[in-house]
Amino acid sequence: MKAIIYETYGSPENLKLKEVNRPEPKADEVLVKVLAASVNQADGHLLSGTPFPVRFSSGLFRPKHQILGADISGVIERVGKDVTQFQVGDQIFGDLSGSGFGGFAEYAVAKEGVLAKKPKNLTFEEAAAMPMASVTALQGLRDLGKIKKGDEILINGASGGVGSFAIQIAKALGAKVTAVCSRRNADLAKTLGADEVIDYAVRNFTQEDRKFDLILDGPVNHSLNQIEPVLKGGGRYVAFGFSMEALMLGSWKSYRTGKKFATLMAKVKKDDLVLLATLADEGKIYPPIQQNFTLDEVPEALSLMKKGKISGKLVITI
Ligand SMILES: NC(=O)c1ccc[n+]([C@@H]2O[C@H](COP(=O)([O-])OP(=O)(O)OC[C@H]3O[C@@H](n4cnc5c(N)ncnc54)[C@H](OP(=O)(O)O)[C@@H]3O)[C@@H](O)[C@H]2O)c1
Repeated sequence: MKAIIYETYGSPENLKLKEVNRPEPKADEVLVKVLAASVNQADGHLLSGTPFPVRFSSGLFRPKHQILGADISGVIERVGKDVTQFQVGDQIFGDLSGSGFGGFAEYAVAKEGVLAKKPKNLTFEEAAAMPMASVTALQGLRDLGKIKKGDEILINGASGGVGSFAIQIAKALGAKVTAVCSRRNADLAKTLGADEVIDYAVRNFTQEDRKFDLILDGPVNHSLNQIEPVLKGGGRYVAFGFSMEALMLGSWKSYRTGKKFATLMAKVKKDDLVLLATLADEGKIYPPIQQNFTLDEVPEALSLMKKGKISGKLVITI
């Protein structure tokens, strides 16, 4: 099969299209014919091997898994003998990040728990745009953010992969949403449902005279001391981008202020994929796609993603 391979940590130029052996599913795995994939910042971190702690799981000196790609959609081609929830021919989508990646290839293997039936109303490309970003948004809002109907929510980094789903999920759950993004992406944020958009080049949301029940933060470009005054009493701050400060001092800051400061490490769950597929089929969320690439163009997609100015998602047709 064709796959995009990397053998050493580095930049997108390290990625090569090669012919490799098709993976063999274990007894509790399925073999998926991958029809589409999407690109996440996680792929970029694994490609570069940075920040350094990613290497504790991905290989200290060279990558343990040579095929990147977490988000996939496709058709089940074979099932292991212990698989109970899927059959050959099922159309699925899912996130392979917890099981060695491998999505930038014609075939991938996966355990049942990281896959769900593809939303019927979406194309394979649209479905592949969803798993990691939409699950992260859902778990940030619901599990750590304890979102409630009527909450006033601010999403920093609202036009990226995670943020664009967070706007839509928050609106579907009855919140009032303020989106922080560039002027270039203001129309996208409004189309996704934002009630208000703040252009970060013009206004600093931490210096405004208003408060929020929940702040969801991807760029993590403000300190906890700057964030705290714009949270209401009992308000919650959830960093989904990496925040050393929230990781180290979040509990202490929560104890001191009575507000909650947390970092999210999202984990794909079948039930969440099923819920998100239902929301997609009901037309409550959809994946905004900035650009479509082919398998041999994965290096270009990762170069573009590295610049951090994405509007929605980048998808790969395989
Ligand atoms: N915790 C987890 O489990 C988890 C899961 C997925 C992702 N992540 C992390 O979450 C972060 C975001 O991921 P993503 O997939 O949403 O990334 P993305 O698609 O690259 O989006 C990043 C967004 O940030 C916006 N942005 C850049 N500078 C900004 C600023 N100063 N203020 C506000 N927004 C700004 C950009 O919008 P403009 O172009 O409009 O500037 C862009 O749309 C990454 O660090 C990623 O590694 C964590």
